[in-house]
Amino acid sequence: MIQLKAHAKINLTLEVLGKRDDGYHNIVSVLQTIDLADELRFEPHPEIVVECDATNIQPEENLAHKAALAIREALQEERGAKITLTKRIPTAAGLGGGSSDAAATLVGLSRLWEQDLSPGDMGHVAQALGSDVSFFLVGSTALVEGRGEIVTPLPELGETWAVLATPPIELLNKTARLYGALAESDYTFGSATRGLVLALRGGRGLTPDQIFNAFESVAGGIFPGFAEYRDSLVDAGAPPVHLAGSGPTLFALTENAEEAAALRERWDVLGGAAQVVKTIATPYNRA
Ligand code: C5P
Repeated sequence: MIQLKAHAKINLTLEVLGKRDDGYHNIVSVLQTIDLADELRFEPHPEIVVECDATNIQPEENLAHKAALAIREALQEERGAKITLTKRIPTAAGLGGGSSDAAATLVGLSRLWEQDLSPGDMGHVAQALGSDVSFFLVGSTALVEGRGEIVTPLPELGETWAVLATPPIELLNKTARLYGALAESDYTFGSATRGLVLALRGGRGLTPDQIFNAFESVAGGIFPGFAEYRDSLVDAGAPPVHLAGSGPTLFALTENAEEAAALRERWDVLGGAAQVVKTIATPYNRA
């Protein structure tokens, strides 16, 4: 049996450069894995079977299931596997949970079947599953370009604490709708991302003013009740509040664990499930 953790991510920057001919958008983004994680168990089984404790994910829509079918085909493998997925990352929340489950499934099944795909083929399978999946094969702190499939590792951001709050807003085709809501004026040239990359490569830490997310300006118009929820977090005395990926999760960075715990308590009384997280490096070397 193989056990892996599939970590969530936050985007420290997320810039959309423009629309492409294939309907996707070119982005530049600095992504960071955090210690919030789903757990996956892989066991021998004649068929591909996924058991998941989250009732709001349709079995055939589960990215772990799609990833299992894709890697089995790519490896021309005839064996199956039973995958038990314990969800801890809120779903469709901007934290990359489904994509991380997919990446962990690619790694877990390669190990279970003792078969390796070449890095290039693994990259193709990951990319076909979703734009964020390639990043999760690498994890830690990384620069992501293209539609998300070009991943360049960066020097690790030191231990950084944050508090997350996910408003209870579910929206069909959320990511496509957010991209679709962007106006030309929301496109940028990547300078926020380049600035952060230079700072990290130069051994300088992250400052809150380096955080940028192109979807901040359109999220309020897409997620019902989002602006009020965000205001209530800010009113509870938060440091700057940022959108996580395509949202609707919001996060604030804190100086240390104590500040994070205090902020979580203030946010908890708002009825949301606020949680303290910290940055974490590459996920798959640990069982
Ligand atoms: O790749 P993924 O399935 O996560 O993308 C969901 C949707 O988000 C795509 O169908 C596309 O509409 C949009 N998208 C985009 N540009 C990207 C990533 C996603 O337009 N770089």
